Amino acid sequence: MKELTDAVLMSNYDKWKNYVDTYCKSRKDYININQLCDEMGEYIATAPASNMESYHCCYVGGLIEHSLNVIENILFIRKYFDMKGVADLPSIESCVFVAAFHDVGKAGDGDRPYFIPEESQWHRDKLGRLFKYNTEQTYLTHAEQTLYLFSKYCISITAKEFQAIRAHDGAWVSYNDKYNLSTLKLLSYMLQFADMQALVIEKHKD
Ligand SMILES: [Fe+2]
Ligand SMILES: [Fe+2]
Repeated sequence: MKELTDAVLMSNYDKWKNYVDTYCKSRKDYININQLCDEMGEYIATAPASNMESYHCCYVGGLIEHSLNVIENILFIRKYFDMKGVADLPSIESCVFVAAFHDVGKAGDGDRPYFIPEESQWHRDKLGRLFKYNTEQTYLTHAEQTLYLFSKYCISITAKEFQAIRAHDGAWVSYNDKYNLSTLKLLSYMLQFADMQALVIEKHKD
């Protein structure tokens, strides 16, 4: 399993928080966003992005590395769409907000982590399951957990941001069946592309 030093964990968190501060400061609930970041900072900085070795960023600090990739990708995609003349682009603020927070549910419910280390050596060796779902939580998918955290911290979001986060796993999961070409908004596509691009880069990087 990839291991990041404390210095790298801190620097990644600072980079991520800097994006949030730079682009989301004008949001009316910024003070609550900041509270979420303060109270969940350690969980956000150390959570893995997935629990299986065969998935992406399955290591302590993986969530932040993935989130940084998604932010960079969505900014790039927005620029590209703009160059191609795509109309009614979502604001940069909205793009960075959904990219930075789309997976924050993987950091936990605010009181406990979403993933905990798998202690069964058999599961680690045979299945590559290095982390497991923390059953002390009420079960929610990680996208739902993100939306729950916004509710918990009184962070209001637009319907488009809600859809983008709720549906960001796209066609990979059956519960997104209702989100399709006729119902998805532009921000949702952009987050799906940015997320997918990040997954591919993360999987195929040395
Ligand atoms: Fe996700
Ligand atoms: Fe993601």
